[in-house]
Amino acid sequence: MKDLIRTSDLSRADVKYLLARAQKFKANPHARRNLLAGESVCLYFAKPSTRTRVSFEAAVNRLGGCGISLSPNDMQLGRGETIEDTARIISRYAKAFVIRTFKDDDVERFARAASIPVINALTDGHHPCQSLADLLTLLEHRGSLKKCRIAYLGDGNNVAISLMQAAALVGADITLGCPASYSVKPELVRAARIEAEANGGSVTVTDDPSAAARGADALYTDVWLSMGDPDAEKEVRQRELGPYQISEQLMALAKPDAVFMHCLPAHRGEEVAEAVMDGPRSVVWDQAENRLHTSVAVLYALIEGKLEGRAPSKSA
Ligand code: CP
Ligand code: NVA
Repeated sequence: MKDLIRTSDLSRADVKYLLARAQKFKANPHARRNLLAGESVCLYFAKPSTRTRVSFEAAVNRLGGCGISLSPNDMQLGRGETIEDTARIISRYAKAFVIRTFKDDDVERFARAASIPVINALTDGHHPCQSLADLLTLLEHRGSLKKCRIAYLGDGNNVAISLMQAAALVGADITLGCPASYSVKPELVRAARIEAEANGGSVTVTDDPSAAARGADALYTDVWLSMGDPDAEKEVRQRELGPYQISEQLMALAKPDAVFMHCLPAHRGEEVAEAVMDGPRSVVWDQAENRLHTSVAVLYALIEGKLEGRAPSKSA
């Protein structure tokens, strides 16, 4: 496996390997400090980022390399040089390319033309790196991922899709509590359900936030308006997604020791109540820290050719 484009590109064994590797790097951050000595990794961000950009730059440093951060305006890509030409050139300079952009297809084009690993650092459709940090955080706080009951509430967006695919790979039980108008595409749910059931888990979709939250080990949410979503949708999204806010009442339906998760950045008073976000059950800071350890693991595993991957399904 050369690239990490979607969580569903990973095999079960790959996820297990990456989580174990991330735990090792967390315990011993400089264990492979010579891996990238004298080498560079390019990081291209066409959308804003705090966690992903900083954690990947820090991850490259931990592996002994130099991160080169770029935005569309820094590059000829912004003036019409093709994705393929850019990918071929960067492959001659760097050991890996981390890319955050809009269209999933652009990342796939980049990966096809590049000879180095390409890592999706968020697109409109997926956020695979986030989902690995989410699994690591759940593992730390719940002890086991198998049969862990995750309830994702709100917009069925990139984060929800990658979380669903990650949960399916580890045999967790995930419920997506989303209004029908902002739910995950049925073909993606179907593919994840097949994967989950093969691993002893399940994928459930409901538009009832209370049903989703009841008995959960973790309640997870994300912003209602993602980068790239039209601002004009803000009002209608707030109206439709309002009932899915993770409030103290919704947390009370989950297990007494359930945790609250959010990929961040958060909007207190919108998708999450302030008391939950800043309350004792919130594990969002651990989740954010785990972006770093999983980023080190992903870079290490791809550069060293440690992942088997699997043939991507057409619908995933
Ligand atoms: N969670 C996440 O990807 O955050 P950033 O947008 O700050 O990178
Ligand atoms: N769904 C959000 C996640 C941000 C990390 C977005 O795409 O803007």
